[in-house]
Amino acid sequence: MHSIGIDIGGTKIAGAVVDEFGTIVREDRQPTTAAQPDEIENAVVEMIERLSEGPEEIVGAGVAAAGFIDAAQSIVYYAPNINWRHEPFREKLESRLAMPVIIENDANAAGWAEFRYGAGRLVSDMVILTIGTGVGGAIVSNDRLFRGGFGAGAEIGHMRVVPGGLPCGCGAHGCIEQYGSGRALERFAGELADAGGIGQALADVRTRKGALKGKDISKLILAGDPGALAALRQLGDWLGQACASLGAVLDPQVFVFGGGVAQAGDLLLEPIRLAYLENLPARGYHPEPEFRIAELVNDAGVVGAADLARLHATQR
Ligand code: BGC
Ligand code: NA
Ligand code: ZN
Repeated sequence: MHSIGIDIGGTKIAGAVVDEFGTIVREDRQPTTAAQPDEIENAVVEMIERLSEGPEEIVGAGVAAAGFIDAAQSIVYYAPNINWRHEPFREKLESRLAMPVIIENDANAAGWAEFRYGAGRLVSDMVILTIGTGVGGAIVSNDRLFRGGFGAGAEIGHMRVVPGGLPCGCGAHGCIEQYGSGRALERFAGELADAGGIGQALADVRTRKGALKGKDISKLILAGDPGALAALRQLGDWLGQACASLGAVLDPQVFVFGGGVAQAGDLLLEPIRLAYLENLPARGYHPEPEFRIAELVNDAGVVGAADLARLHATQR
């Protein structure tokens, strides 16, 4: 039995036909330039149509999107980084497609895939943070994906870590998204570049390229540059503190980190773990969860969205 998963990212839309074991049988991707709802809708419809042309019987499609989504997996209430405001996305897609569709939060989709097939497959309680343009979150508790009362729970990126802190795309201030995202990493790197000293290599790249982007920072991280590593430690420190609070509430066995920045691997996990331990209530007595990098990397969103669509189509 097959289903389709679509993952709408900041720069591209990815899609795949996935079987019931989480294996991708066919995939497709397309760059997105404008984050306008109409263009995204058209691109998603066209991709689902292309993917359905194969021999498999498709039971439904799941579309992963970055935003607050309702309990019926239907409406995007609000998207901090895309122009969606009360967007009846599912209805629009279903009116143009011959299959049931669900809309799922992007991090929920990725977290579900990691729980089913990846870094969380051996536990019942897991929290994932996806570190990209924003900070996404998903909670699996007692083997179930946590949704909250209105569907929009597990928006971990908008957990406040600094009262009166930096303004966030969600309208609040001091969210962890402003201190633990890929954009925050760019900001920390920029500040270190301004300071000179260990930030010299960062400053040189910025001068050469006119800006300091995630990709270049990642390169410097992997090359062992002390400035880039310091920026990454700052990010990890914020994320670890957030995990200590999350641990007090949710008590997961595993914290998983996904998204581009997580490709730094142990270099990211190390400061996260240190900050977690330093800030953990009942430190020394609370069992220590594992900190892991996501295993499905770029495929987590499509695989999770497809899996949730299949469950939706077959469990009614
Ligand atoms: C959004 C989330 C999304 C996350 C990662 C946040 O700004 O509020 O819905 O999961 O970014 O894309
Ligand atoms: Na979420
Ligand atoms: Zn926010």
